[in-house]
Amino acid sequence: MKKDFLRILDLSDRELLSLLAAGQAWKRRGARRGAPRPLLGKTLAMIFQKASTRTRVSFEVGMARLGGHALFLSPADTQIGRGEPVRDTARVLSRYVDGIMIRTFEQETVEEMASHAAVPVINGLTDSHHPCQVLADLMTAKERGFDLRRMKVAFIGDGNNVANSWVEAANLLGFSLRLACPKGFEPDAGVMREAEGLGRGDVRIVRDPAEAARDAHILYTDVWTSMGQEKERRRRLAAFRGYRIDASLLSAAAKGAIVMHCLPAHRGEEITDEVMEGPRSAVFDEAENRMHVQMALLSKLIPH
Ligand code: CP
Ligand code: NVA
Repeated sequence: MKKDFLRILDLSDRELLSLLAAGQAWKRRGARRGAPRPLLGKTLAMIFQKASTRTRVSFEVGMARLGGHALFLSPADTQIGRGEPVRDTARVLSRYVDGIMIRTFEQETVEEMASHAAVPVINGLTDSHHPCQVLADLMTAKERGFDLRRMKVAFIGDGNNVANSWVEAANLLGFSLRLACPKGFEPDAGVMREAEGLGRGDVRIVRDPAEAARDAHILYTDVWTSMGQEKERRRRLAAFRGYRIDASLLSAAAKGAIVMHCLPAHRGEEITDEVMEGPRSAVFDEAENRMHVQMALLSKLIPH
């Protein structure tokens, strides 16, 4: 494995599948006494320049279950928020901790952190990628019995960070991905091009959510306004009208299809309350699986 995990394409397909299997093993072990503690005495620094519930708690509890612990660093009370350069922060933290998880805006920031840190760096979300989320989503798809190389996934809505990570996963594993996005809200063109270069994927952008949903095994969505885009909210609400997962869209999907959302959700916008609470919703399993698969990731990346 590479030293850092900054995007899905930092993994080979075999590495990705083995992480998912290790995540399932951690899930089976649960929190029982006597479970292995491979990261005993190890510390993870967690830098958050945006809000978080799942990422923060799943990494912190995951580290504790592995025998280590995690430090929450917010820009409000560290020098990061007062402009200390990323490369200095990376070098200083590397003298104290065994790994760094960072949630920030620019992908370049996590890349700079990784290139100056002596310890592994994990991307906990940027404007461009959310690779830990898609690891948990794939683990959830697998435990629901879907074939990760042959399934059909429909991503409905904004071609954002989560969508970009799905594009990379589809190209790495070879499954079919249809992204239904309004014009101007497609996934990143560079990510699409690079992922296509692998030549394995069956990834297409369509305009019509029903076309994307047809026969899909998984309907996926995310908020229309991501963190940092709050000023665009009105424009986005108008642009995404019609890109909602509701009961009628779900009825176009394959029999036994499931619905996924990385959360937090805006019920009544990108997903209806009925679907979110309905029997096809896998959203809370996805949230739980963040912790298990990240435990697998941490124990692979942090030397012990
Ligand atoms: N899905 C996700 O990353 O959630 P948080 O923003 O709560 O971490
Ligand atoms: N696309 C969302 C994901 C939140 C987990 C955002 O970036 O805000």
